[in-house]
Amino acid sequence: MAHSIAVIPGDGIGNPAIRAALAVAEKAAPGLLAPQIFPWSCDHYLATGRMMPEDGIDQLKGYDAIFLGAVGWPEKVPDSVSLHGLLLPIRKAFCQYANIRPHRLLSGVEGPLKTRDFDILCIRENTEGEYSGAGGRIHQGTEDEVAVETAIFTRKGVERILRFGYEQAMQRRRKLASVTKSNAQRHSMVFWDEITQKLAREYPEVEVTLFHVDAMAARMVMQPESLDVIVASNLFGDILTDLGAAIQGGLGFAASGNIDPTGKNPSMFEPVHGSAPDIAALGIANPIASIWSLCMMLDHLGEAEVAARIMAAVEKVTAAGTGTRPGQNSTAEITKAILAALEA
Ligand code: IPM
Ligand code: MN
Repeated sequence: MAHSIAVIPGDGIGNPAIRAALAVAEKAAPGLLAPQIFPWSCDHYLATGRMMPEDGIDQLKGYDAIFLGAVGWPEKVPDSVSLHGLLLPIRKAFCQYANIRPHRLLSGVEGPLKTRDFDILCIRENTEGEYSGAGGRIHQGTEDEVAVETAIFTRKGVERILRFGYEQAMQRRRKLASVTKSNAQRHSMVFWDEITQKLAREYPEVEVTLFHVDAMAARMVMQPESLDVIVASNLFGDILTDLGAAIQGGLGFAASGNIDPTGKNPSMFEPVHGSAPDIAALGIANPIASIWSLCMMLDHLGEAEVAARIMAAVEKVTAAGTGTRPGQNSTAEITKAILAALEA
């Protein structure tokens, strides 16, 4: 039976990139996905006053997965409104607590580093921590104004993301880097380190190392080959995965999955890049980040063979020099080449 997919192309380059990925899926396995398009976006906000309808989460509930392009168009709607009206509530409502982002160089893609020798999986906590949204402002607009943004770390939340990290490491090269800043942040981050060490006893095969986030930033540049699975809090994971995107050749290649590992809710797959209003009209968005995210979705849905076939087609195209540098080829050219590679 076809997998039902709720597709939210969103804003800007989210649209062409998602459409390219859906065309690639249809070519690789006709009828395997049953996509339903939801037009939720900043334009939807301007028309209705909401990024998604009030029952938006309920509407998404029954789907096997969600495929999202990009959210945000700051000239139309402030980011603090658009993101808190669509992307972030979906991650939280569906308990998509593990944000997974692979960082490796596709064949033919040149990164900024001397080495090509790295294959990292970053796992970012996706529902709490520094982005929990707890806080407020008082005496707004006055000289006495105070703004508080509280990071929230729960035992349940920290344990489940670390356990997910250990499980991923077991399926890979059995190395886990747990990232905190426990030398400076002595409550939440020491708590995180303690739970990392407690769980280590359950995973004796995994070699676990504790890192501070500043040192990890340097290591991802200087010795990326020493890393396998990285697990970090919401903020640190957000920053480190943009660094990961940079070393893999740019945001045009950075893919992600927002996973509910319990399988109770649909997981959501999206390119890491944003809506890029500056290039949205130019037709030069690289669809590869979305196509790679699509492959992660297919893997998640148990369609590993189709996912592998699509990734092989993508790498055949990049190995031949198409779509490897920003702006070098149009979205249409890259998509056409991948469709042709799937045919061959
Ligand atoms: C990401 C993005 C989002 C995040 C923003 C747009 C809220 O940067 O997916 O990395 O930080 O979660
Ligand atoms: Mn980010």
